[in-house]
Amino acid sequence: MPQTLLEIRDLQVEYTTYEGSGITLDLGHLEVYEGESFGLVGASGSGKSLTALAVLNLIPDPPGKIKRGEILFRGTDLLKLPAKAMAKVRGAEVATIFQDPMSSLNPVFTVGEQVTRVIRHHQGLRRAEAEARALDLFRLVRLSDPERVLGKYPHELSGGMRQRVMIAMALSCEAPLLIADEATRALDVTIQAGIVELLVELKEKTGVTVIYIASNLGVVAQLCTRMGLLYSGQLVEVGPTEAVLAGPGHPYTRALIDAIPEIGERSRLLKVTEGFPPNPVNPPPGCRFNPRCSLAVPECSAKRPDPVELGSGHHRVWCYKAGAGWSD
Ligand SMILES: Nc1ncnc2c1ncn2[C@@H]1O[C@H](COP(=O)(O)OP(=O)(O)O)[C@@H](O)[C@H]1O
Ligand code: SF4
Ligand SMILES: [Mg+2]
Repeated sequence: MPQTLLEIRDLQVEYTTYEGSGITLDLGHLEVYEGESFGLVGASGSGKSLTALAVLNLIPDPPGKIKRGEILFRGTDLLKLPAKAMAKVRGAEVATIFQDPMSSLNPVFTVGEQVTRVIRHHQGLRRAEAEARALDLFRLVRLSDPERVLGKYPHELSGGMRQRVMIAMALSCEAPLLIADEATRALDVTIQAGIVELLVELKEKTGVTVIYIASNLGVVAQLCTRMGLLYSGQLVEVGPTEAVLAGPGHPYTRALIDAIPEIGERSRLLKVTEGFPPNPVNPPPGCRFNPRCSLAVPECSAKRPDPVELGSGHHRVWCYKAGAGWSD
């Protein structure tokens, strides 16, 4: 049995906007195991970043509020930790890489100064030791000419290089959990592929557990052993990547798979109405996917389905028609 590193229990986050208040994230139960790479996939606004922020206990309150739930990291509920202890968890236990390194890097310091400061803060090393460690990390993330890069300001580096600096910074404290929130989204395709390759290599070298957040299945299918799909703030499917790709149980997952040509030409029997997921502040009743689903039956708009287990690999699907024979 794999060891659980992170266990989210019955998590609900409420947001108040000019449209009113609503449960924008209703994650229920989710486990991430030690050493795995878990993909969290969903369209823009589906609650991926809120999930990451909740794990870091950084939901801005107001307008957000954690209504209920627990986030257990190696058994400790992060939501109950005093602020000082939680500040230590960020960086030392849970490291993050965000989409836009420019907003996470300080423009007035060189990247070397910034990485060195993080290392000194978390590991209590002397300046020279921290600089040597920063240099090692820059080599590890395959920044060419690392000595020169140390003395550069963020704006002097390309987007791909900045993202590598951010990854080095995230790795600097050897945190057991790394959350990459759309880490490659702003980069062009070849640089994106290089960063993904790097993450695979780093995972093999360091054994770090990774939560890889993305808005499509492409990278997650390559990188992750398990995945969860979010739709309008709720999980609709969770399971081993292979099982989900071979036999998606939820129509939304199926639509996302159909959108990746390299995963295989599938019949397009299933119609998903064009459009966007509903704003979770004001969702439709029942299954939130029902306005776009060609399989919907009356009960779909009456009550959210309970999860159904498919196969034997802990593949869970929240759909009344899960596994009802609509897939190939
Ligand atoms: N600052 C905010 N104010 C109000 N609502 C917010 C805010 N941030 C997020 N939300 C709500 O939470 C939902 C999920 O946001 P987010 O987790 O950022 O989505 P994504 O999946 O794109 O990362 C949004 O659709 C929105 O309803
Ligand atoms: S529960 Fe109903 S509306 Fe929701 S995805 Fe399944 S069939 Fe479609
Ligand atoms: Mg986001």
